[in-house]
Amino acid sequence: VGDSPATARVSVHVPPPRTAGYDVVIGAGLLHALPRLVAAAAPADRYAVIAPAPVAALYGEAVLDGLRTAGLHADLLSFPDGEQHKTRATWAALTDRMLEIGCGRGSAVIALGGGVAGDLAGFVAATYMRGVAVVQVPTTLLAMIDAAVGGKTAVDTDAGKNLVGVFHPPRVVIMDPVVLGTLPDDAIRAGLAEAVKHGVMLDATYFRWIEDNAEALLRRDTEALEHLVTRSVELKAAVVADDPFDSAGRAVLNFGHTVGHALEHDAGYTLDHGFAVAAGMVVEALAGEQLGVTEQGTAARIRRLLLQLGLPATPDLQRRPDHGAAAADRLVAAMRLDKKSRGRAVHCALPARIGTSARTSAPTGDRGWTHDVPDHVLLYALGRPAGTPEVV
Ligand SMILES: NC(=O)c1ccc[n+]([C@@H]2O[C@H](COP(=O)([O-])OP(=O)(O)OC[C@H]3O[C@@H](n4cnc5c(N)ncnc54)[C@H](O)[C@@H]3O)[C@@H](O)[C@H]2O)c1
Ligand SMILES: [Zn+2]
Repeated sequence: VGDSPATARVSVHVPPPRTAGYDVVIGAGLLHALPRLVAAAAPADRYAVIAPAPVAALYGEAVLDGLRTAGLHADLLSFPDGEQHKTRATWAALTDRMLEIGCGRGSAVIALGGGVAGDLAGFVAATYMRGVAVVQVPTTLLAMIDAAVGGKTAVDTDAGKNLVGVFHPPRVVIMDPVVLGTLPDDAIRAGLAEAVKHGVMLDATYFRWIEDNAEALLRRDTEALEHLVTRSVELKAAVVADDPFDSAGRAVLNFGHTVGHALEHDAGYTLDHGFAVAAGMVVEALAGEQLGVTEQGTAARIRRLLLQLGLPATPDLQRRPDHGAAAADRLVAAMRLDKKSRGRAVHCALPARIGTSARTSAPTGDRGWTHDVPDHVLLYALGRPAGTPEVV
């Protein structure tokens, strides 16, 4: 209410046993309103602003100054940048630091940064003194449209990503698209891949809007980014409200991720998540078409949009020395190890057509939102570029 003329507010409902919902507030320049929003949604006697070093350098002082000017007690705690620091060791260092500076049960955490900061600082807040409030202030496109909404927090272990964590919904989420101006181009593109996913699985009008605004999005037009963030947050919020504990409808958000995770794994995690998901969506849509689950032509339309956005639209296995045969086999093996493939068959969340997810007739563990995809269909989808004639 009255944040600024261009502010959007999306309410996220968190059904019992977690009771309190929270608002996601989105608006250009909103970082200036942060102290007021924080004080209202997460009153605390002191605030620990947790940010990775580069984000602390870019925005830390401004956030801290704002909080202090508003009469709030705040400290900036930075941590080394990168996924490799989303660990229990960093969690320990941050919680030790909070103890050292005297944060008590009445303190709150402000997570300032990308998805790593959100997951890590969220986990710090969830566990500190058996749980203190957290405010999420995502600063990457991926964190805005994906990580900051839903209440999942976690750290990585040597055995895998996000293996130790807990649900800890934020009190409020503050998104200022202006901060996206300092992101590298690849990070913008990677975030756009997840927005395309939202369009494919949940909203045909949104998909069309991204097609029509690809160029504006790539040049970071503030209004375009604000609309994108708002629509993606609305869509994710609706899914999350339906399914706060990750058991059912949330599965639709895994479109592109079964193959995407395998591609990331196969590249030794040197491939950006969003780029892997982009290629993964095309492969999975092709598999869906082959299974008769997905309308013909869907993969080709997704591929066209991804290319417009400067995203990879195939895994490009054919360019490898072995023309992709061994790579495809390795990828299918990796998919079997994916945590979403509970049994032996590989599961994928698939679209019925652009804008609509496909339910299965035989519900699996996720109440019918994922499909068994046989190996030969996956191999076929991995090998054939979208848009080329089918070989049956
Ligand atoms: N909790 C969830 O539901 C959820 C969902 C999706 C992803 N994630 C997690 O999110 C993480 C990935 O998030 P990410 O892609 O944001 O990575 P990230 O947090 O590592 O940020 C990417 C890089 O951008 C920098 N950065 C952040 N904001 C910036 C800005 N405004 N200007 C310039 N540089 C900036 C960061 O310092 C970092 O170097 C993964 O750990 C993933 O597991 C969580
Ligand atoms: Zn993702």
